[in-house]
Amino acid sequence: MLSMKSIDLRHKRVMIREDFNVPLDNEGKITSDTRIQAALPTIRLALEQHAKVILLSHLGRPVEGQYEERYSLLSVAEKLSQLLGRPVRLVKNWLQGIEVEEGEVVLCENVRFNFGENADDDLLSQKMAVLCDVFVMDAFATAHRAQASTHGIAKYAAVACAGPLMMAEVEALTAVMDNPARPLLAIVGGAKISSKLALLENLSRRTDQLIVGGGIANTFLAAAGYPIGCSLYEPDSLSTAEKLLAMGKVPLPIDVVTATAFSAEALPVIKAIADVAPDEMILDIGPKTLAAYTTLIDDAKTILWNGPVGVFEFPAFVHGTAGIARAIALSQAYSVAGGGDTLAAIELFGLASGISSISTGGGAFLEYMEGKELPAITILNSRNEE
Ligand code: 3PG
Repeated sequence: MLSMKSIDLRHKRVMIREDFNVPLDNEGKITSDTRIQAALPTIRLALEQHAKVILLSHLGRPVEGQYEERYSLLSVAEKLSQLLGRPVRLVKNWLQGIEVEEGEVVLCENVRFNFGENADDDLLSQKMAVLCDVFVMDAFATAHRAQASTHGIAKYAAVACAGPLMMAEVEALTAVMDNPARPLLAIVGGAKISSKLALLENLSRRTDQLIVGGGIANTFLAAAGYPIGCSLYEPDSLSTAEKLLAMGKVPLPIDVVTATAFSAEALPVIKAIADVAPDEMILDIGPKTLAAYTTLIDDAKTILWNGPVGVFEFPAFVHGTAGIARAIALSQAYSVAGGGDTLAAIELFGLASGISSISTGGGAFLEYMEGKELPAITILNSRNEE
């Protein structure tokens, strides 16, 4: 990939695709700014060269073609101007043209408000491409999406290159996956069950052990014939889970923490996996499971972590995820962690310094780890071959 660092950006309109898809609370307040912080060095680099800086990002998954306030990037613009110490103007209607001065930073409103973004529409991609002299792809976390602002625009921009964050993330993950110290342990949890379960098959071929958590673990428990009450799980993925269980790399939980309501006030009850009642839902792993998983973490030489193993946002169900995070941070293994919730958990427990490499990517991180080509990288590579 052509690197942004090798391009003269002086006085140019530099459009940087960021991943500002940050977690927000019910009032729209940013709960983790890791992705915004990670983008700052690239933005500063462009500013140092007196570039006209135009930022693009998505936020959430709005209905395409419709403006919806809760998906507005306004809070991101405010956070950015606070962190950069200069005004960052949010531009709502930007496709028709953007006025931007040298040394100024503007943020274009959510790219997913435009028709054709998700479908990687050619016309939309061309409209974006003419707004810049240099297109910089720096959103590793969205590099697995072939969309107009991550892929199509890179076909048509006069110059298309990778930003320093993107380069650094790819280099770090390539180094881990090319020749990992073994045993290689992956821990995959979280609520995005179906998209993650689909990629566990490939991932498990590359790893020696695979710990699953959250709704993914519930699907494995159901596939093994255990009662899961009214827990979150993926009925369509039971056969995938069965196949993975047969490979013998996925240890099942021994005990779990259940509740009869999905709420911070719900009473936590520790149960053996065979004893979950029909009106209960599994919200965390139990202490025996945590002890067994900690042994696997201690024995591993490389650890990949994506997704919490419980509802860590509720104090009563935080222990599993906190214990896993602590064990990873204390282990001697080379550890890589990625994903929005995972980064929020690491931040909450103050354990970032114990993790060897932090990736801003969730889905992109997992897809790269399972050996898939990421479309945004493929297109940059092909532009470099021209
Ligand atoms: C992520 O959070 O993984 C990226 O921002 C991609 O978001 P998406 O899954 O909505 O495409």
